[in-house]
Amino acid sequence: MKFKFNFSKKIILAISAFFLLQLYYIEATAQSVIIPIETKNNAMVLRVEANKDVSTIFFGKKLMDANEYAFIPGGYKQTEDYTGMLNAAYTPAGSRNLVEPAITVTHADGNSSLDLKYSSHKVAKIDNNVSLLSIVLKDPVYNFEVTLFYKSYFNEDVIEQWNEIKHNETGNVILQKYASANIYLKATSYWLNQYHGDWAREMQPEESKLTHGIKTLDTKLGTRANLLMPSVFMISLNKPATEDEGSVLYGAVEYSGNFKVDLELDYQDNLRVIAGINNYASPYTLQPKEAFITPAFLYTFSDKGKGDASRKLQSWARDYRLLDGKGTRLTLLNNWESTFFDFNETKLAALLKDTKKLGVDLFLLDDGWFANKYPRNNDRAGLGDWQENKTKLPNGISSLVKEATANGVKFGIWLEPEMVNPKSELYEQHPDWVIKQPKRAEYYYRNQLVLDLSNPQVQEFVYNIVDRLFTKNPGLAYIKWDCNAVIYNAYSSHLKNQSHFYIEYMRGLYKVLERVRAKYPVVPMMLCSGGGGRVDYAALKYFTEFWPSDNTDPLERIFIQWEYSYFYPAISSSNHVTDWGKQLIKFRTDVAMMGKLGFDIEVSKLSEKDLAYCKQAIKNYDSVKEVIWQGDQYRLSNPREGSVAAIMYVNEAKTTGVIFNYLVNSRYGENSKFPILLKGLDGSKKYTLREISLYPGVTSTIDAGKIYSGDYLMKMGYNPDVNSRRTSVVVLLTEK
Ligand code: DGJ
Repeated sequence: MKFKFNFSKKIILAISAFFLLQLYYIEATAQSVIIPIETKNNAMVLRVEANKDVSTIFFGKKLMDANEYAFIPGGYKQTEDYTGMLNAAYTPAGSRNLVEPAITVTHADGNSSLDLKYSSHKVAKIDNNVSLLSIVLKDPVYNFEVTLFYKSYFNEDVIEQWNEIKHNETGNVILQKYASANIYLKATSYWLNQYHGDWAREMQPEESKLTHGIKTLDTKLGTRANLLMPSVFMISLNKPATEDEGSVLYGAVEYSGNFKVDLELDYQDNLRVIAGINNYASPYTLQPKEAFITPAFLYTFSDKGKGDASRKLQSWARDYRLLDGKGTRLTLLNNWESTFFDFNETKLAALLKDTKKLGVDLFLLDDGWFANKYPRNNDRAGLGDWQENKTKLPNGISSLVKEATANGVKFGIWLEPEMVNPKSELYEQHPDWVIKQPKRAEYYYRNQLVLDLSNPQVQEFVYNIVDRLFTKNPGLAYIKWDCNAVIYNAYSSHLKNQSHFYIEYMRGLYKVLERVRAKYPVVPMMLCSGGGGRVDYAALKYFTEFWPSDNTDPLERIFIQWEYSYFYPAISSSNHVTDWGKQLIKFRTDVAMMGKLGFDIEVSKLSEKDLAYCKQAIKNYDSVKEVIWQGDQYRLSNPREGSVAAIMYVNEAKTTGVIFNYLVNSRYGENSKFPILLKGLDGSKKYTLREISLYPGVTSTIDAGKIYSGDYLMKMGYNPDVNSRRTSVVVLLTEK
C-alpha cells in the first residue's frame, strides 16, 4: 500500500512537474512570440504579450537580424500607457481601451465589452512572392473571434490587411464598428497628404502636419463614393517626404462604398491608423456562425520617398489587381463631346469612318442610344430603359457593330446600369427597385436615382443588361460603365434591416461584377463615374481602366493625372483628347498619351495638319505605349513647384524611355531654365534623345545626334527646351 502510495505520489509529482514545465513553456513562448511580417525592405512586427494581447512593436524598414525586433520597444521611453494596449494590433472597445477602437460590438446579452486574446497563428506561403499570415484572436469571456489576415507581397513591399469576424453566442451580435486594419506608427512627426475633389476637380492634394486627436477621411455618398474624397492617402514620417527622399506610407481602402480612415495621434505621440468600411448608419447584425469579412486595407511603405512607393504600388497593381494589368489596351474614338445625345445612324456611320481614318482601334458609342417611351435625348429621361432608341438606331446596335467591323474597327458602348431616371418605364414598372425614402420627397443627382442593388432582382436586372448586350452582339469589344448619382434618402424596400443597406448595396454590386467577369473575363471595361468618382482597388479587380475626370482641359489634366499617378499605373488611366482647354492639339494629345490614349473630338472638323499630326501621334504612341504602360514611372518636375511639368517612363531593361514635358505657366519668359535630371537609368549605358510627337513641319531643337551617358543624364540632366513656342515636348530616350 505504502509502496503503491509512494509510486502514485511520484507519478503525480512527475505529472505535475510535466504540466508546470508545459505551463512555463507556454508562458515563455507567449512572452516571446514575435510575428514579423517581412517584405523585401520593410517589416511590420507583431508580438504576443504575456497576457496574450497582440500588439504592434514595429513598422518600418526591416532589420537584418529578425531577433533584434524584440529590442525595439525597450528603446522608447514614452509616457505611461494606461491601457496597456495603445499599440493593439486590432483594438477592441469596451474593456481597457481608451482610444479609437478598431472594433466595437454589442453582444447577444446586450453587453458591449470586447477583449481579444491571441489564440493561434499560421503563415501560408501562396507562392515565392506572396504569403498570407492569419492570427486568430478570441474573447476570453464571450464566444467571439476575429481572424486578422495580412497578405504580403514581398517584392512590392505591399500588404493587404483584412479580418474575418464571427461568433457563436446565443443570439445575434451587433457589429458597431469593424475596421479592416489598425496600424501603429512611431515617428517624431506625421505629415498627412490627403485628397479632396468634386466633379471636374478630382484629386486635389493637401498636406498638413497631424496634430493630437483624430483626423478622419471618409465618405457617406454610398455610391461613386470617392467623388468628394478618395480613399487614398500618404503619411510621411518625421518630415514631409519628397519624390526621392523620406519615409512614407501609402494607404488605400479597397472598397467602392463608404469608407472611413481615422488617423489618431495619441497622447504618447504615436499614430494609430484605423481604416475600413465607414460604420456610419451601418451597425451590422451578425448571426451566430456567420462570417463577416471586411474589405482589405492596402498599404506600402518606402524610406526612399514618394516615387519609390508609387512605383511599388503601380507594379503591384499591374501584377496582382488591375484586370489585365499586364495586357494591352485599345485606343479609341468616343462620341460624347462631339455629339452629346444628338446622333443617328447616319452620323454614327460617319464617325465609324472617322475612327478608321484617325487610326484608333475602337469606336465608343456614349450615352443617348436607348429608351423609347421616354427617349434618352437629354439627361432627364430614359435611364433604365436599355432598348435601342428606334428613331436614332432603327437597325439596332448589332448593325453598328457590323458596320464597325466592315470599317476595320471595334465597337464599344456606354452603360450606366445602376441608375434610373424617374422619367422611365423602369421606374414606372418597378418603383420598389429604387433607393428612396418611402415617406419623403425624392431628391435627385443629375436627374436620376440609384437602383437598389441589395435586391437580388435588381442584381439580376443589371447583370442582364450587360449579358443581353453581349449575347446579341458577340462582337462588342468594350464597355464604358458609368455611375453618376450619389445615394440620397438611403432606404431599401427589399431589406428588413436598413442598417445593412450600404453594405448590401456594395455586396450586390460586386456580385454583379463577379458574374459579368465570370462570363466575360477579358472584355475591356472602363470604370467611369461622371469623372473619377469611383476608382479604388476593389473596383479595379473588374475593370481594365478608369476615367480620371470629365475635366479634359490638358492643363488641368496634367495636375489630375499627376496625383492619380502616385497610386495607379498609367495603363489604367483613360485619357481622351477633347476640345476642352485652349491648348493646341499637340499639347492635348501629348497629355492624353501619358496613359491610355483616346479621342473625343470631331475628326471631320480637324484641319488637314491637325489630322496628320493626330494620325502620326497614334503611330508614335503605338511604338512607345509598352514603356508607358509597363515601365517604371518617374515624376521629374512637379507642376506645383515650377513652370515645367515632366514625367518619364523607362522600361525594365533601362534601354528605352519616354519623357513628357510641359509648360504649365503662361507668364512672360517662362521656360525650362534648368536642365531636367532624368531618373531610373543605367549610369553606364549610353543614350540618345530624340523628340517625337512633332507637329507637321516643325523641326525639333533637340539634337538627336548627341550621345549621353546615363550617369550624365541623371546627374546633369538635359534641357527639353520647353518655352512658349514649345509648350509640350515629348522625348524618346534610346540606348545607343
Ligand atoms: C459622365 C461621363 O463622365 C461622361 O464621359 C459621359 O459618359 C456622360 N456621363 C454621359 O452621360
